[in-house]
Amino acid sequence: MAPSPLTASPHLQAHLKALHSQSSVQESGLDWASLPKQCTDAFDDIMRDKFIALDQDKCELIYHVLRSINAKTVVEAGTSFGVSTIYLALAVAQNVARDSQAQQGRVIATEKEPSKASVARENWERAGDEIQGVIDLRVGDLRETLEKDLGTVDFLLLDSEYISHPFDGPLLTLSSVWTPLALPAVKLVKPYLRPGAVIMADNTLMANVGYEELLAYLDAPDSGFRRVTLPYTGGLDMIIYQ
Ligand SMILES: C[S@@+](CC[C@H](N)C(=O)[O-])C[C@H]1O[C@@H](n2cnc3c(N)ncnc32)[C@H](O)[C@@H]1O
Repeated sequence: MAPSPLTASPHLQAHLKALHSQSSVQESGLDWASLPKQCTDAFDDIMRDKFIALDQDKCELIYHVLRSINAKTVVEAGTSFGVSTIYLALAVAQNVARDSQAQQGRVIATEKEPSKASVARENWERAGDEIQGVIDLRVGDLRETLEKDLGTVDFLLLDSEYISHPFDGPLLTLSSVWTPLALPAVKLVKPYLRPGAVIMADNTLMANVGYEELLAYLDAPDSGFRRVTLPYTGGLDMIIYQ
């Protein structure tokens, strides 16, 4: 097995492992086919106690990219219980610590469900000192929470969709419940992106129908974006702002 790129204490690594494991166990017990196919109250009720955390290998890649581009301001669209946020915060905190001139780093995380946001805070508290003081959690609809005060953004994680488990017909339909939020998030953050900023979008192959509008927008010749689909489970797009 390839080594993890993470520089983290044994405590934090164990915490992350436990969170990913809880998320996987929960997902494997979900009856995906019976989930509502629209973002209704019933759908929200079912998803309120679900992690749907980004896969560990994807989180580690993103951490690695953040270290490479020296990201100090990161936006996360879709925080849930804050698992991927820990990786973002760790990389940003380490980038700031490496640079004696750097001002404070920031991970602007956003989650529409207040109860999920509270659990995320607890998970960050348990993560410990390595990620403290970096996360700016905005509770509410990302179409409002990302409207202002972003600063110059180095990286945007688009993880407001939730398909990561067995792919079949019904799931393709389900994928459209949250993916339509990806394009509004990109449009809101775009004015703040620095040249060379990176956007990662999860499950772009598996949920390609839900992402249709986003991908068409990014692929327009004058969009200012270029992308490649990485061969991670479900497809993971790495998009560069030119
Ligand atoms: C796939 S989960 C995020 C997982 C998280 N990134 C992680 O790895 O732990 C997607 C989250 O997006 C949230 N979400 C959906 N629509 C949203 C919106 N309009 N504004 C903010 N968050 C939203 C959902 O409540 C859900 O918790």
